[in-house]
Amino acid sequence: MTEWIDPLALKALLDWQAELGADEAIGDVPVDRYAAPVTVSAVKSPAITAPEPMLPDPIVDAQAAAAAAGDLDGLRAALAAFPHCELRHGARNLVFADGQPGARVMILGEAPGRDEDAQGLPFVGPVGQLLDRMLLAIGLARQADTLADAVYISNVMPWRPPQNRPPTSDEIAMLRPFVERHIALAKPEFLILMGNGACQAVLERGGITRLRGSWVSAAGVPCLPMLHPAYLLRHPAAKRDAWADLLSLKARLGQQH
Ligand code: URA
Repeated sequence: MTEWIDPLALKALLDWQAELGADEAIGDVPVDRYAAPVTVSAVKSPAITAPEPMLPDPIVDAQAAAAAAGDLDGLRAALAAFPHCELRHGARNLVFADGQPGARVMILGEAPGRDEDAQGLPFVGPVGQLLDRMLLAIGLARQADTLADAVYISNVMPWRPPQNRPPTSDEIAMLRPFVERHIALAKPEFLILMGNGACQAVLERGGITRLRGSWVSAAGVPCLPMLHPAYLLRHPAAKRDAWADLLSLKARLGQQH
């Protein structure tokens, strides 16, 4: 059995030796390298090894799977079959979308929380209830009588991250092809990017407090970054900014119809 030696004591010994000038590791007895026999194993020829098997690239796989999806049901099925994102193993449900496909406005959030994971629908917990009230304030709803007043809602991540942590940049990059395809298939006229995760996925940059309120063109649609309703629950004073952004969306909806 190996005797356990306190690493701090070992470090102190080493420091002490270095102070004495022992700055090279040499043995007590000299070695005559010319006299040493050359063994066959010492001049081993480079081993010929089989080439490493190519590991699948999750992003390339995501691009292929997303591109092959011809409609929203196909995209949902492609996500359900996508094996690379570890978050799927901890999630109870795949959270794909809610609201009306074909709506003029698409809302993109970050990731499901506990309630969304349990129900398999985006934005259904307290954060989602605030989102519904915000939308209603400008005459929009998930289920409206006409597509003109409806919204379609999804998230960057279809699976809940553990402890509601934000998705990592690798996770977002892996799921980006699905997000882009989702937008292309849902064909919204306007896309609302709710918070940093959505901005990271679509604009490839964060900094929502600076981005919010300014329309940008991305994924082939006019996009409006907005403060996430979860942020508004924690910072009620920021609702003033959110209201200004909702009015900006309402104005765009009024202009283009
Ligand atoms: N936050 C999100 O970004 N999405 C949800 O679905 C719920 C909370």
